[in-house]
Amino acid sequence: MSGLSVEVSENGHTSLPDASYAYDETEDFAKLDHKPRLLSLENRQRSLDERSLSEFSHISPNLTSQTENISRLADHLENMFATSRRSGFNTPRSGLSTPRSYAAGFEPHPIVGEAWEALRRSLVYFRGQPVGTIAALDNSEEKLNYDQVFVRDFVPSALAFLMNGEPEIVKNFLLKTLRLQSWEKKIDRFQLGEGVMPASFKVFHDPVRNHETLIADFGESAIGRVAPVDSGFWWIILLRAYTKSTGDSTLAEMPECQKGMRLILSLCLSEGFDTFPTLLCADGCSMIDRRMGVYGYPIEIQTLFFMALRSAQVLLKHDDEGKEFIERIVKRLHALSYHMRAYYWLDFKQLNDIYRYKTEEYSHTAVNKFNVMPDSLPEWVFDFMPNRGGYFIGNVGPANMDVRWFCLGNCIAILSSLATSEQSTAIMDLIEERWEELVGEMPVKVCYPAIESHEWRIVTGCDPKNTRWSYHNGGSWPVLLWLLTAACIKTGRPQIARRAIALAESRLLKDNWPEYYDGKLGRYIGKQARKFQTWSIAGYLVAKMMLEDPSHLGMVALEEDKQMKPVLKRSVSWTI
Ligand code: GLC
Repeated sequence: MSGLSVEVSENGHTSLPDASYAYDETEDFAKLDHKPRLLSLENRQRSLDERSLSEFSHISPNLTSQTENISRLADHLENMFATSRRSGFNTPRSGLSTPRSYAAGFEPHPIVGEAWEALRRSLVYFRGQPVGTIAALDNSEEKLNYDQVFVRDFVPSALAFLMNGEPEIVKNFLLKTLRLQSWEKKIDRFQLGEGVMPASFKVFHDPVRNHETLIADFGESAIGRVAPVDSGFWWIILLRAYTKSTGDSTLAEMPECQKGMRLILSLCLSEGFDTFPTLLCADGCSMIDRRMGVYGYPIEIQTLFFMALRSAQVLLKHDDEGKEFIERIVKRLHALSYHMRAYYWLDFKQLNDIYRYKTEEYSHTAVNKFNVMPDSLPEWVFDFMPNRGGYFIGNVGPANMDVRWFCLGNCIAILSSLATSEQSTAIMDLIEERWEELVGEMPVKVCYPAIESHEWRIVTGCDPKNTRWSYHNGGSWPVLLWLLTAACIKTGRPQIARRAIALAESRLLKDNWPEYYDGKLGRYIGKQARKFQTWSIAGYLVAKMMLEDPSHLGMVALEEDKQMKPVLKRSVSWTI
């Protein structure tokens, strides 16, 4: 867990919920579809069937807390109703512009209903509207900032709601976080970039004024003051998922959304001293939000960057400002895909080549471009590398190849088509070949292998939370199941996902949806893992729904862009 809870303090900090951060619904750039709050069950049912909400539009969204409680109860009834409809899994929820139906005759696993209920319990409301899901609903542990809505954590929740035909919460989330982006962000006396999206936010209820405000954390409260580089990328990716799933492009086309995207892109497309198209980052800038030796050019950020660029490419309007960005995106994508496919890829042949590399080569003819010392390759990688399969390594920089395997980066590489189809197949082959190491008893390892002893001391700074095979250091994270499943479906290997889901199903509910598992095989509930961790719940649901209806994949996957595939051959098994 990365941060301290954002509290009202007196230091004039930017995250104070003072008047400048409070905003009224009337300030919102677009009127959201306000959910009617006080409906009879009969009306609720009708509204589910017809979605003719406009007839209730006279009901004010600004309710007192008492009426809000009643409305939440009404919500709950609707949710129970929706869950019972859903548990039939053959009735698409009405009101979708592109209704989806579940495979007829599909028998849901008994824990699916429980998962939906737990997911709904995690909903966070702001002035009567659902705007996100809390990171974990675990009261037995110290809260830290697990009582906040994390941008990255909300993604699987959002996908679950989209897949279930409930896009409103996703729209609310996208708009609220966009408002947060426009805050002035400061850490001590240093002002952060305009486009930075928050890592997390929470709703602050002022009992005196009976008023709710949002409080965001851009890293200024987070443990280690880590930068949420991934938040902006996830935001763009989610905007595309929303657009794709609902068929409603009006949200993305709003001038505010267009500007929000441009601001995010300005941060990462700006010119600087870079010699590579990859993005230079500090440690702890993404899901792994503690010092774990992922500084430099970490795979997770590079793949999210790539996917966000490709998503923005389709979402940006071709007006004057948009066009300029699209041109920059096209150039960057071209360079980035080349760089990643060429230098991050590792398979048996490539490993053997690097093993035999010469060093200290100068000029354009250098083979060992980054002057990697073959002796720096860890021993484990020679055993780990199967004859069949390959993967994108963790990091590449001057004299640096971090050959650890990271789940999220490799899955996003597949989903975004950063990986060629040959590389995608090889990534899945590797997962099959190294099942015990990467999946073990609980899908999936966040990275492999763990860092131990002296290396752990140096790399993590003696972090007691990230001891070997725990948490970010080789721990197993159920949330990654949705990414694995999506990658499996995209590569035509659903049986791999089925196997992984079955493993998760055998434990997740019984163990109360832990945040992560520990141990080489992921057999033990994590040392400090929160229970009822929302993205563990949502990740499972998304995996299930995608497997049942693979058409959902379109929300989170991009087809290969043929123009991005140069012909240069590097290895017998793949082309770049
Ligand atoms: C931990 C995780 C981070 C997550 C947060 C909330 O800090 O490392 O990825 O967003 O918890 O669940």
